Amino acid sequence: ISMLRRVDAYLEEYQAQKSGMKETFPDLSFAKSTSIDSIGVDERLFEKPQLPTLNKAALEKILRERSLQMRDQQQAWQESEEGRRMLEFRSSLPAYKEKEEILSTILRNQVVIISGQTGCGKTTQLPQFILERETESLCGAVCNIICTQPRRISAISVSERVAFERGEKLGESMPSLSPTFCSSKVGYKVRLEGMKGRDTRLLFCTTGILLRRLIADRKLKDVTHIIVDEIHERGMNEDFLLIVLKDLLPRRPELKLILMSATLEAELFSSYFNGAAIIKIPGFTHLVRTHFLEDILEISGYGLTPDNQIDDYGQERIWKMNNQGPRKRKSQITSLVEDALREADFKNYSPQTRESLSCWNPDCIGFNFIEYILCHICEDERPGAVLVFMIGWDDISALKEKLLLHPVLGDQSRVLLLTCHGSMANSEQRLIFEEPEDGVRKIVLATNIAETSITINDVVFVLDCGKAKESSYDALNNTPCLLPTWISKVSAQQRRGRAGRVQAGECYHLYPRCVYDAFAEYQLPEILRTPLQSLCLQIKSLKLGPISEFLSRALQSPEILAVQNAIEYLKIIGAFDNNENLTLLGHYLTMLPMEPKLGKMLILGAIFNCLDPILTITAGLSVRDPFLTPLDKKDVAEAAKAQFSHDYSDHLALVRAYDGWKDAEIDLAGQEYCWTNFLSVQSMKAIDALRMEFLSLLKDIGIVDSNATNCNAWSYDVHLIRAVICYGLYPGVCSIVHKEKSFSLKTMEDGKVHLHSNSVNARESKIPYPWLVFNEKIKVNSVFLRDSTAVSDSVVLLFGGNMSKDGDGQLKMLGGYLEFLMKPAVAEMFQSIRRKLDDFIQSKL
Ligand code: CDP
Ligand code: MG
Repeated sequence: ISMLRRVDAYLEEYQAQKSGMKETFPDLSFAKSTSIDSIGVDERLFEKPQLPTLNKAALEKILRERSLQMRDQQQAWQESEEGRRMLEFRSSLPAYKEKEEILSTILRNQVVIISGQTGCGKTTQLPQFILERETESLCGAVCNIICTQPRRISAISVSERVAFERGEKLGESMPSLSPTFCSSKVGYKVRLEGMKGRDTRLLFCTTGILLRRLIADRKLKDVTHIIVDEIHERGMNEDFLLIVLKDLLPRRPELKLILMSATLEAELFSSYFNGAAIIKIPGFTHLVRTHFLEDILEISGYGLTPDNQIDDYGQERIWKMNNQGPRKRKSQITSLVEDALREADFKNYSPQTRESLSCWNPDCIGFNFIEYILCHICEDERPGAVLVFMIGWDDISALKEKLLLHPVLGDQSRVLLLTCHGSMANSEQRLIFEEPEDGVRKIVLATNIAETSITINDVVFVLDCGKAKESSYDALNNTPCLLPTWISKVSAQQRRGRAGRVQAGECYHLYPRCVYDAFAEYQLPEILRTPLQSLCLQIKSLKLGPISEFLSRALQSPEILAVQNAIEYLKIIGAFDNNENLTLLGHYLTMLPMEPKLGKMLILGAIFNCLDPILTITAGLSVRDPFLTPLDKKDVAEAAKAQFSHDYSDHLALVRAYDGWKDAEIDLAGQEYCWTNFLSVQSMKAIDALRMEFLSLLKDIGIVDSNATNCNAWSYDVHLIRAVICYGLYPGVCSIVHKEKSFSLKTMEDGKVHLHSNSVNARESKIPYPWLVFNEKIKVNSVFLRDSTAVSDSVVLLFGGNMSKDGDGQLKMLGGYLEFLMKPAVAEMFQSIRRKLDDFIQSKL
């Protein structure tokens, strides 16, 4: 810190001299004497964790006994009443009827593609068929099946279900061994969590976990079957895995690959694997009555007005959209929707319905309207669970809050209100599968996760808002976005199908039919619409050769420009060297399953012993903005936020708000604290959970001592935290051009940029720093920066890009300092400090 201060003083002096036209340079000697060791780091943080040792003979003995016990247990289960009933259920599933066909096709072919409607038994039955057959026919020889799931929640819930169907208990652990040992043949492994042991023959894991396993075990030595589930989603990880597996198959002729999909795109995958065998499981669903918006309005007489579509939350949303742009940004699909609406013909509908339709706001999900329909179902409709498809976790929690206040829907003796999204806890997850008591209506608010990967058995009514959060990426502007977008026709059909699983059902689409007609047939694969930085890191850590060449072998290859941008970025942040090889830092980043910038920030936070606030910041950057700004209380909300912001930093404002909440929680006043300070309770809780998760990840890779419980050994030295933030967010940096009473912002690539009006810096008329580092920029008509932190020259020069290596990018970025750095003596000074800093960081990795 003292070094930074001295460098800043030096720069100020230099600027002063430059304007005064003095030709001498200030004293450089301090650069040689500054010792980075003096920053003082707790050495104990860097000791590697010790693995517990096991007594081998004892282990073998217990295992032998255990396997005998397990065989008896299976037999007993199959003969029991429950076991018989389970087998009956399983054999009623459409997949069961294809069992022999499936097994013999797998026997004859290396690659098999299986498609069938959601709920027909692909995920739960197929792996079991293989497991049962292999253990029968191999007489004890080892089969080893890995089934990948796109999300951790489905990996966990499916493995639990399969263990249950086999009469086994997942995670029945034997305390004498390691706590993760389990006796079931079925196990799971997701990030930071797992249940698997020597007996595990069928492992459900996230696709990411299998990719990571490939790093250590390139040929997947002991694996006999790989099942890639939900390939129709075309997630980036799945597309990536398919390239790797396609290369691996000729080298592992006995390895079987099975791809499973809920939609009928089988031919695409079959031709990718040179005409692989296809099996289609015939499906069956009950009739689902479909109501589009106009039908609901017509029957119910509900009148949509601009006002009743906009509740508190809706207002906030719209307001945000207006300020941030998605509404102004006319994506192709938005204009298609608008055209569709303009040309739609509603003449067979009543005047009131037509009037209502003209008030319908495609950008707004009417919470009041949803509440109205739910209330109608609860009061007037037959029994059956309700599944509501919302956009994302933020509007799910906002809707839940609203519904809980409703006299009928909030009455827990009548309604069981649950949520289903990717980040929910396991305990919460189990509840959604359970049947409620008689007379209680189950309502599940879900993201598109419930579209295909999670099956809730008793659903009879579906509400579909027509949207999902989709990550997208604009390669030309190198700008990522995560925006609510209209879903595809296939998704809408999937959502509708969820209502007809047990009996005839009803589906309410909360948009007009003409809008549905304008939807795209399929969603664009993720690899074509997201930034590729993490993917490029993975390609390198798996040593898969030159990145562009590797990606050209994908099912659908991403744009060349998108690949180049990603590689360039990784060079700038120091994860790649100039030859596209992983640096030591890059190597660590590949082990952290998060955006590289967050990983980088965390690593430096640990090294500089200020991990606590950095955990909050990185977690905060991963969840919904916790600062709420309801339109009608905008001033009060802004004033509340202003209390936290005396550092010209949104990131530090968040740290202060979070710490305040943590303190309030001790007195059980967390909720009240959030209310008075306009903070979202859910976001605070999510940050709390993520902080723990990030900390365990850092312990896993050995950056933080595995026994460390206290990472609070820091004082609020904002100077240091600014440096760490900059280290992570670089090259997200813009220069502040000061004018007399205001300032404007500039980046090299975009020219003039603007601050998002929620930023604490947007309310300042002067910022006493020359630079802002930012997390994200969003291109609307002009470019807007979201959360930002003001930083000094020294911070950018020393914690920004890699000066000595990629001179070109660096000099360009530094704009005004170009001439300054060209002076050999000055450049040398900075490089010397920079080198020391780099060496110091390297020595801690
Ligand atoms: O993968 P797919 O969509 O084809 O179906 P699945 O997930 O294997 O589910 C097959 C059936 O098992 C579903 O129709 C549900 O009836 C049942 N199931 C369940 O009762 N509980 C679970 N946690 C998962 C599935
Ligand atoms: Mg499935």
